[in-house]
Amino acid sequence: MIPAEIIEKKRDGYELTAQEINWFIEGVIKNKIDDSQLSSLLMSIYFRGMSDSETNSLVQSMVDSGKQFDFNYLDKFVADKHSTGGIGDKISFILAPLLSSFNIIVPMIAGRGLAYTGGTIDKIESIPNFQTHINFKDFSSKIENVGCGIISQSSEICPADKKLYSIRDLTGTIPSTPLICSSIMSKKVAEGLNGLVMDIKVGNGAFMKTLKEARSLANELKKIGQAFGIRTDVIFSNMAQPLGDYAGLKCEVIEAIDCLKGKGPEDLVELSLELGSKIMIQSGLFKNPDESKAKMIEHLNNGKALDKFEKMILAQNGDLKSLHSDSYIPKYEIIIESQENGYISSMDTEKIGWALVEMGCGRKVAKDLLDNSAGIKFNRKVGDRVNVGDPVYELFNSNAKKLNIARSLLLKTFTISSEKTPKQKLIINT
Ligand code: URA
Repeated sequence: MIPAEIIEKKRDGYELTAQEINWFIEGVIKNKIDDSQLSSLLMSIYFRGMSDSETNSLVQSMVDSGKQFDFNYLDKFVADKHSTGGIGDKISFILAPLLSSFNIIVPMIAGRGLAYTGGTIDKIESIPNFQTHINFKDFSSKIENVGCGIISQSSEICPADKKLYSIRDLTGTIPSTPLICSSIMSKKVAEGLNGLVMDIKVGNGAFMKTLKEARSLANELKKIGQAFGIRTDVIFSNMAQPLGDYAGLKCEVIEAIDCLKGKGPEDLVELSLELGSKIMIQSGLFKNPDESKAKMIEHLNNGKALDKFEKMILAQNGDLKSLHSDSYIPKYEIIIESQENGYISSMDTEKIGWALVEMGCGRKVAKDLLDNSAGIKFNRKVGDRVNVGDPVYELFNSNAKKLNIARSLLLKTFTISSEKTPKQKLIINT
């Protein structure tokens, strides 16, 4: 086969065969197909889409590019949560240990920041020494001992997603339904899951800007889940404003720990419980969402979830002591104050995400270094009252120049109305 012929076939809107997709992905992994050819195929898929059978073949080829976990011998429910990407989303750090505190196995494979959205791996790597590149055998035994863990794709685990993910990030090919679905589901199939809950973000800070687009993505994800034997539930959550009080790198891990201590902000706790209860019900541990949420709150308040989190951090070599919030002092800080009296009527969440990238929480080019101390605290959200001089955002990092650029971007990310504006509903529709 010839790479250019496969690219042309997709470019012209024809359906690729399973053999062609598999041959192309194998060529990418063996470095026989170069980045320009991969980018070109991704752009053709972006414009032309993929049929169900093409998407399933792409998922299968991506899974086959690496090894697949099988934790069935542990005789426990194996499950995970995955989000389509947003701003301030630190739910993985809460749900992995929380579910694991109920004896559910959570072998999470996550990614780095994509475009303006934050990456689970980038955030957790803000913990000094925390290892996200763990080989297949070692990760299997850590999961057996602890019950949960978070790693990134590697040359052994989902290598095709590792490659496609990084090229998509740099080539404007992220918001494509088949590419998002195959990226997510190849990781989930490789984890050897029985159950999955998808947090599909909707709104101006999500890849899916409308509920219609989000529903169509949900349908595709569920179909793939069914084809690969993973029970898949979906929650649509609002990304028309950031989630929680913080967005950034280390500050998000610290906010997640607050949540694991039973002191998390309302929206973060609400969404964690909603997503968690889907898995608790899938596992057969509970029949009723309210009962499962009450039990999860108990494990947040009695330290059982926090204990699992600490075990997971230690198992992956992370420095626990560095996580005490009183040891977290960023070098520079700027406060953005309100210039008007009124109510916050909207937030431009995608622009907030790009300002975070500018501050050092994400990459503009692959070799960019991240600034673990960077982040934003949101003192006000949509519907909140503000008066002139009230602090709306507090931004911090270790580079004054970048912080000033972010400041000018952030000034344009919220609007104020004299009319009372309703608060945003977090869970749009399940
Ligand atoms: N999360 C992923 O793992 N992949 C995507 O493409 C988007 C969100």
